[in-house]
Amino acid sequence: MTKKEVVPFRFSDKEVQCLFGVTFDDIRERLSDKRVVWITDEHFYTKYPQDFPAGQCIILPAGEAHKTQETVGRAIDELLNMEADREVFLMGVGGGVVTDMVGYIASIYLRGVKFAFAPSSVLAMVDAAVGGKNGVNVGLFKNQVGVIRQPEYLFYNFSFLHTLPELEWISGFAEIIKHACIHDAEMFRFLWNNSLEDFRKDLSVTGELIRKNAELKFSVASGDERESGQRRLLNFGHTLGHAIENITTMPHGFAISIGMVFACRLSEKLEGFDPEKTEWLIQLLKKYHLPVEADYSKEKAWDILVHDKKKSGDSIHFILLKDIGEGVVHSLSLSELKKLFFEM
Ligand code: GLY
Repeated sequence: MTKKEVVPFRFSDKEVQCLFGVTFDDIRERLSDKRVVWITDEHFYTKYPQDFPAGQCIILPAGEAHKTQETVGRAIDELLNMEADREVFLMGVGGGVVTDMVGYIASIYLRGVKFAFAPSSVLAMVDAAVGGKNGVNVGLFKNQVGVIRQPEYLFYNFSFLHTLPELEWISGFAEIIKHACIHDAEMFRFLWNNSLEDFRKDLSVTGELIRKNAELKFSVASGDERESGQRRLLNFGHTLGHAIENITTMPHGFAISIGMVFACRLSEKLEGFDPEKTEWLIQLLKKYHLPVEADYSKEKAWDILVHDKKKSGDSIHFILLKDIGEGVVHSLSLSELKKLFFEM
């Protein structure tokens, strides 16, 4: 297991203490001087019921379909029933759906209370819990309402991964592969030389990989918190990926995987990306059991895609690759994208 270590993540208005390799006891000890309300979801609670204090815990319904204003409203009712005042500290434990909602609830409850996350999935550890963007979906559209606000702490308890279902391991590795594609060719090679099965067996190696990815996400996000520049790179694979996720029942990482392959093909046309490297990515995704294609309605995907948050006026910031490890933001007119999308 990764040794315990505290690493400060400095954002513009706050230093987030990131604690790697902690246990539930470490979290409790760190928060011992606070009135903590714990928030998790049904899935996580069922696995670790003994770790949540009765009466000071809110259990959200599990799954992306519940990442809504309605669920947030119900959690706020529970906080009011608990007579939680502005000194309350919200401790979100769970996957990305939980961390996204807890960060949002903490930002609006009584106009803002302090909070922390203990992400429980690979995806939440390397992506969702880091960066401060928190919010909910509106209808079919992902993360349309939300805030950018940082937690006090990020607690990494790698033992949570012992109970993580295989599908979620696979989904989380799509975001790790994304990081390698846009920023870290060496990590791409490292992933190539290992396998999902290796990482599931050896949580100390996985802990190091997760830490590296959390730090990479932090370094990209902290330089551009409001996403007007380099942070956009983190959307590699996500423009089409989010659309596919919306119109199918595919897990996030699976849809992103297909989105990354499409973005590589587009990169071949628009950035001179080497087609052989698209093949490398396809082989890597397959090695990690991720899909590289799917049957979906292009018309439906396009309807969702044009509502993407990355759109601005008649153009969209599409993330492409110049090389493995070198992502670029490419501004593309919607009409050009539409033409390429339907002919590819
Ligand atoms: N919550 C994920 C991010 O800020 O990017």
